[in-house]
Amino acid sequence: MTDFISIADIDRTKMLELFDLAASLKADRTGTDALAGKTVALIFHKPSLRTRVSFEVGVAELGGHPMYVTDAEIKMGQRESTYDIGKVLERYVHGIMIRTFAHSNATELADAAGIPVINGLTDLLHPCQVMGDILTCVERGKNVDEMVVSFVGDGNNVANSWVNAAGNLSFELRIAGPSGYQPDPELLSAARAKGANINVMHDAIEAVAGADVVYTDVWTSMGQEEEAKEREAQFRSFQVNDELLSRAKADAIVLHCLPAHRNDEITDSVMDGPQSAVFDQAENRLHAQKAIMVDLIGG
Ligand code: CP
Ligand code: NVA
Repeated sequence: MTDFISIADIDRTKMLELFDLAASLKADRTGTDALAGKTVALIFHKPSLRTRVSFEVGVAELGGHPMYVTDAEIKMGQRESTYDIGKVLERYVHGIMIRTFAHSNATELADAAGIPVINGLTDLLHPCQVMGDILTCVERGKNVDEMVVSFVGDGNNVANSWVNAAGNLSFELRIAGPSGYQPDPELLSAARAKGANINVMHDAIEAVAGADVVYTDVWTSMGQEEEAKEREAQFRSFQVNDELLSRAKADAIVLHCLPAHRNDEITDSVMDGPQSAVFDQAENRLHAQKAIMVDLIGG
């Protein structure tokens, strides 16, 4: 791996290797100094709790130095080009994590910089999230080739990264949302061409029947705030609540990438209930990303 922009860019073997590495890093949090003497720049164009803190902590736990960079300072594409930023940063730091709007900002930066670039969320994808998510499924005893994952809600960046993951592993992915809010069609075709078992549906109850994992994400993502009212109306029947969850397997787990809009896409009772794994999932961002950084930047 030279960058980590999309799960579609790695194969099944690499994914499984990263889950194993993440589990061992979790078991011994400060046991490796793989990033000793190295600096990782963390560029943010959007707000963050998990991504910011888990990357900073992760780099520090690996013995490296994290550097938080906001767009208020660098003004990517305005003050100078993304290309020039990549060419300059490669002279100073050993890796870059970027959270941004247009996916092309991440790919252009990765193309320009001769150092590893990690995607910490774009409008299109959220690959680190889904690596942490699947790590959580594995920890909870789910089989990555047999589980049924029901994603209820917006077919946006998180759902798109699940589509990519379904191209590498054999789990069944069902994505249920209103018309017009489906995952990216090109990513769907590419995953299906690799044999992915994906069903795009419009009925939440049908999607969740017999599921091992029930997943949801906010109805209005960062950058879509002006669509919030319309989205609330469209997604109203796609709430993950006790009634919906009762359709899944009795031992199903509930995942949410967070931040949650409690009692919109997920009720308090589900989020705080016995099947919720959302805080383990949030923690696992740290361990999954440490594995990605050891692989890409370490050594
Ligand atoms: N799930 C996630 O990426 O959270 P943040 O937006 O807080 O980083
Ligand atoms: N789909 C959400 C994910 C947040 C982690 C967003 O892009 O805002």
